[in-house]
Amino acid sequence: MAIRSLGYIRLGVTDMERWRVFGEDFLGMMRVEGGDQESLYFRIDHYPPRLVVSPAGEPTMSAMGFEVMNERDLVQLVSTVEAEGIKVTAGTPAECAERRVTGFARFLDPGGNPVELFYGPVLDHVRVRTPLLGSSFVTGDMGMGHAIVTAEDVKATFDFYVRVLGFVERNTAGSTYFLGCNPRHHTFGITPRPGPGKLVHIMVEVADLDDVGLALDRAAELGVPMMNTLGKHTNDHMVSFYVYSPEFYAIEVGWNGLRVTAEEPTYEITEGAFWGHKFTPPPVG
Ligand SMILES: [Fe+2]
Repeated sequence: MAIRSLGYIRLGVTDMERWRVFGEDFLGMMRVEGGDQESLYFRIDHYPPRLVVSPAGEPTMSAMGFEVMNERDLVQLVSTVEAEGIKVTAGTPAECAERRVTGFARFLDPGGNPVELFYGPVLDHVRVRTPLLGSSFVTGDMGMGHAIVTAEDVKATFDFYVRVLGFVERNTAGSTYFLGCNPRHHTFGITPRPGPGKLVHIMVEVADLDDVGLALDRAAELGVPMMNTLGKHTNDHMVSFYVYSPEFYAIEVGWNGLRVTAEEPTYEITEGAFWGHKFTPPPVG
């Protein structure tokens, strides 16, 4: 009974057209029709859309979806979460249909981040087409990628994800925690920030270094602002770069991330990168 992977992310954004360009023309995801005419649905593999972007008055992450094995595991995890005094709500049939999952439940983690636990993705068997990529997105048993959120009380949020949801601590960087739940080095991270939790970072992985380079070229062509130059991380050894999403989330495109296949002791890193990842602040205005 544990989380299998990051399944999907749902965002509320203020500029849908910029996100269409960002998701489709920059990231190279496959845009598909979904249950809501106003939303953008992006597939990267055989799963239902991993990224769903909907209009909102304020930029927000409306859900971070983690996959569990089946209904039995969902029921058990929900009761474990409820035992922490956290209110959990079951997804309605309409919400399940729109997400293309068999069942899910939602709650706020102790940092205030909206979590959905789901099982039973509804597969449609139309092969994913990502023609901007020479290779493909790396998902499978490692899920969509990774996400990092903020929490005012990082330690309490960390404790919840490890003790209640079953994540494994992989490493720390000061008061930032990196947690895993499958061979991907980290699926989730928590970093401190005053106030309620907030999405700060999403990573997607591609199977070929050339696809990192081609994404760099597309960022330049499309005027997507660069955040971190090409570099190699010290924790997951990923070769990657970061850009700013329209609302300045740090979006990373990476290759060759470390797979952790045995239990390994946690460690503290003192630099984020072996080389590269030179930072540029967000554009003003
Ligand atoms: Fe990352």
